[in-house]
Amino acid sequence: MDNNTLNTWNEELKNSSPQDVITFFLEKFPDTCALATSLGYEDQILTEMVASIDKEANIFTLDTGRLFPETYDLIDRTSKKYGINIHIFFPERRSVEKITQEHGINLFYDSIENRKLCCNVRKLEPLARAMKDLDVWITGLRKDQSVTRTSMRLVEWDDSNNIIKINPLINWTEQDVIQYIQEKGIPCNPLHKKGYASIGCQPCTRAIEKGEDVRAGRWWWEDPATKECGLHKK
Ligand code: ADX
Ligand code: SF4
Repeated sequence: MDNNTLNTWNEELKNSSPQDVITFFLEKFPDTCALATSLGYEDQILTEMVASIDKEANIFTLDTGRLFPETYDLIDRTSKKYGINIHIFFPERRSVEKITQEHGINLFYDSIENRKLCCNVRKLEPLARAMKDLDVWITGLRKDQSVTRTSMRLVEWDDSNNIIKINPLINWTEQDVIQYIQEKGIPCNPLHKKGYASIGCQPCTRAIEKGEDVRAGRWWWEDPATKECGLHKK
């Protein structure tokens, strides 16, 4: 994808609502545009938006096998509420068996290398499969989520995955997110109310204290500047 096209789209869509941005890409790439959801607040908003535009649109999630029970329940409740099918991508069993055999079931706490190995097997490989035939993926990234995300744009070229990435909520604040959720009665993970701001895998997510960064509870034992699982590289 050339830079000019990306710049043109960013310019053309800079004042558009997230719904208009989603509609634009679903129409341009009818069979090859998908929403990747982790079932967090932002993704639940995008799911509501996508479902209101096209119930048949491709929505997928990566089930790492280590998600919270609350997240599995939410997948079910959300699918039923919006009458949609959330496609589940699961890790390759041989790879999971190999890394747990070699490094232990909770290998991620031992080193950044092991943590990345686990994310590779449980997230990145399934993501690559989910994206095999896609041109565009829609994500719930927002600029103010973390220091690693401040330079992101609405429409970007995703070098690691060779795909166009769009972030319709890029400029939304946390307040915008909460307000939309409440207005629309969007189903959410009950863990948010218990202090879990950003929710990923159960062993790698903890609740945060008041005043802490929203992503402070993800891989809390690591340095904030390295804390991306590889789904989203800087
Ligand atoms: S992560 O890099 O720390 O794991 P984060 O939880 O902030 O990512 O989510 C950012 C975006 O990545 C989400 O809005 C979603 O589009 C995508 N994403 C993250 N985790 C998953 C998942 N398990 N399945 C599908 N998409 C995901
Ligand atoms: Fe593994 Fe933790 Fe990464 Fe989940 S977040 S894939 S459990 S290292």
